[in-house]
Amino acid sequence: MKTTSLLLAILSFNILAIAATSFTSEPFDSREATIDSVHNALYSGISSCRDVVSSFISRIEAFNPTVNAIISLNPNALSIADRLDLQIALGNSTGLLFCIPVLLKDNFDMVGMNTTGGCLDLAGNKPTADAPVVTALKNAGAIILGKTNLHELALEGLSVSSLGGQTVNPYDHTRTPGGSSGGTGAAIGSSFAVFGTGTDTVNSLRSPASANSLFSVRPTRGLISRAGVIPISFTQDAIGPIARNVKDLAVALTVMTSVEYDTNDNTTALIPTSSVGVDYSNSIYGGSLKGLRLGLLQGFVNRTASNETTPVNDAMDHMVSVLEAAGATIVSINETVYNATTIATLDVQTSEYRQEMDAYLEMPSLSGTQPSTLNELYNSSKFLVIPSQYNYVNTALRSSTSNSSYAPTKLGIQNLTTVLRSTFSSNSLDAIIYPEQKNLVVKIGSPSQSGRNGILAALTGSPVVTIPAGFSPPTDDAPIGVPIGMEILGQPWSESKLLNIAAHISDLTHVRRMPSFANGSVEVSSYDTVPTITPNASNIPSAYPLGTL
Ligand SMILES: *[C@@H]1O[C@H](CO)[C@@H](O)[C@H](O)[C@H]1NC(C)=O
Ligand SMILES: *[C@@H]1O[C@H](CO)[C@@H](O)[C@H](O)[C@H]1NC(C)=O
Ligand SMILES: *[C@@H]1O[C@H](CO)[C@@H](O)[C@H](O)[C@H]1NC(C)=O
Ligand SMILES: *[C@@H]1O[C@H](CO)[C@@H](O)[C@H](O)[C@H]1NC(C)=O
Ligand SMILES: *[C@@H]1O[C@H](CO)[C@@H](O)[C@H](O)[C@H]1NC(C)=O
Ligand SMILES: *[C@@H]1O[C@H](CO)[C@@H](O)[C@H](O)[C@H]1NC(C)=O
Ligand SMILES: *[C@@H]1O[C@H](CO)[C@@H](O)[C@H](O)[C@H]1NC(C)=O
Ligand SMILES: *[C@@H]1O[C@H](CO)[C@@H](O)[C@H](O)[C@H]1NC(C)=O
Ligand SMILES: *[C@@H]1O[C@H](CO)[C@@H](O)[C@H](O)[C@H]1NC(C)=O
Ligand SMILES: *[C@@H]1O[C@H](CO)[C@@H](O)[C@H](O)[C@H]1NC(C)=O
Ligand SMILES: *[C@@H]1O[C@H](CO)[C@@H](O)[C@H](O)[C@H]1NC(C)=O
Ligand SMILES: *[C@@H]1O[C@H](CO)[C@@H](O)[C@H](O)[C@H]1NC(C)=O
Repeated sequence: MKTTSLLLAILSFNILAIAATSFTSEPFDSREATIDSVHNALYSGISSCRDVVSSFISRIEAFNPTVNAIISLNPNALSIADRLDLQIALGNSTGLLFCIPVLLKDNFDMVGMNTTGGCLDLAGNKPTADAPVVTALKNAGAIILGKTNLHELALEGLSVSSLGGQTVNPYDHTRTPGGSSGGTGAAIGSSFAVFGTGTDTVNSLRSPASANSLFSVRPTRGLISRAGVIPISFTQDAIGPIARNVKDLAVALTVMTSVEYDTNDNTTALIPTSSVGVDYSNSIYGGSLKGLRLGLLQGFVNRTASNETTPVNDAMDHMVSVLEAAGATIVSINETVYNATTIATLDVQTSEYRQEMDAYLEMPSLSGTQPSTLNELYNSSKFLVIPSQYNYVNTALRSSTSNSSYAPTKLGIQNLTTVLRSTFSSNSLDAIIYPEQKNLVVKIGSPSQSGRNGILAALTGSPVVTIPAGFSPPTDDAPIGVPIGMEILGQPWSESKLLNIAAHISDLTHVRRMPSFANGSVEVSSYDTVPTITPNASNIPSAYPLGTL
């Protein structure tokens, strides 16, 4: 009996599949696709899951040679799609992310694909276990389409790596895509998947969102387990989603937080019961901007007029006028403590990096040919020497949490956290706003990604939702302008409130636009197997040689 109904189901699946192929006039259009647009196409029978995945792969084949955002594609993506098509035929298509193509920054472990960190010396780093957050995405039905380039080992914001080369900003091919999660930023900005993942030690989820007209969440410290992700700093690291709209961001966050308590990341013990099992997609409805009190950090703005700063200031001024017109009160926060340069003196990455990285490289779940210590990695010459990273890594190799400077610096972070809480309380603030970067995202070949403001949230463990705030005026290099992003920082565990604010601002402003170089439709190929995408390391600026320290 059971066998018969299964056979019938498979037969009807075949009929459905034939019907789908013979009556579909338009293949799935992946441009600006959302979770809802994929599900509508699937559940109305217009597209199969294979059509959806093929459509994204075709876009990657057409446009990745220009932006160079992809390190590798998942060879199993099409066979997973076929399995999901069978589940649709069986009436068993469940999961918030059923058949949603997702890209992982290539510092997340996933079985079947190496975790390279963009570093030549980690090309053979083969995990035998998924990061818990990757398991959560898969369990929700997501199809991991592939891995994205990043600034090598996530240590800067230029998004250039010895393995993956330079990723290019889709809106201005002379500029970087922000970073370190710049491969995910450029890929999601170009509609290579529905959403992607990133990591953030100082700016790295927010700078690519800002530079590619996208939304991201850096969650409260502890909300998402960081296990199985190449680490930098126990105190500062966070992981989260990057998406093209607030709703997809909220659904992605819901799935990524479903890991809850994880013994392999003790910060997850901090999650309050009110943040367990939250469906963040509910938080985008209701509420209003009227009556909100938003602090604007004056010290996180560069008022020196120039082509690189004025567009950012104009976008923020416009955002303030929109918020005021909607009934919010903007409170000017002038305390000199809010100076990103001075706050950065409390950065503890260099004391934590070597211990964290050695612990990652020693994990029994890694097989393959990776180095066994950070020291070994940096003795391999298989990495780029970037000026802004050179001193950092040199110091990290000689440092630990036993350094005499470490404990006082951690106390300084505690103090900063209290100062920030006091600013919230004394001004009765709902959230704090500022531009992610004081200037436009830097040009390819620059020594560092200057002017970013991510350090405040990174040290205090505060949640931030980053949203598109505007574009610079169009130029020859940037036909619709360079994207500009705004951070909305909240009190711990206030992700729902921040997403609600972001959703209201997004509904009022509709800032995001797709990059014009890739705004045309693409002919969708019919694939037998997933094509191989080769990272392009021939485009590394000469300022960043392979080398030794
Ligand atoms: C590699 O990058 C260079 C410079 O950006 C580009 O001209 C070339 O077409 C790319 N090659 C491939 C195979 O994508
Ligand atoms: C239904 O889907 C779930 C989750 O993907 C899977 O574990 C289960 O085996 C499926 N059941 C059938 C009958 O295919
Ligand atoms: C939490 O784990 C980190 C290493 O990941 C360790 O350094 C720290 O001591 C642990 N903290 C507690 C309170 O167990
Ligand atoms: C921030 O601090 C730096 C270094 O201490 C200083 O040069 C700069 O003028 C300060 N910026 C502002 C806006 O006060
Ligand atoms: C600033 O932008 C204007 C207008 O696009 C341009 O004419 C000028 O050359 C730019 N200046 C610099 C220093 O890039
Ligand atoms: C902060 O400075 C602005 C001018 O830049 C001023 O209008 C505002 O009143 C100041 N706010 C406070 C709280 O001092
Ligand atoms: C992944 O790592 C394995 C084990 O080190 C290696 O054999 C394989 O070539 C690597 N794959 C790629 C695509 O580099
Ligand atoms: C670095 O590698 C060289 C050989 O390539 C070796 O002689 C040296 O001992 C290594 N140093 C460290 C610190 O591993
Ligand atoms: C830690 O101590 C070592 C050795 O004294 C020193 O070289 C390094 O700069 C110190 N690191 C930090 C972060 O202070
Ligand atoms: C805490 O920070 C405030 C503001 O920067 C500063 O005035 C105070 O001295 C700091 N306290 C300690 C104990 O570091
Ligand atoms: C402010 O912008 C000017 C003009 O672009 C630049 O020269 C200066 O370095 C910037 N200052 C800071 C603190 O970013
Ligand atoms: C694509 O970009 C071009 C050039 O900016 C613009 O004219 C056109 O309207 C855009 N098309 C879409 C569908 O956004």
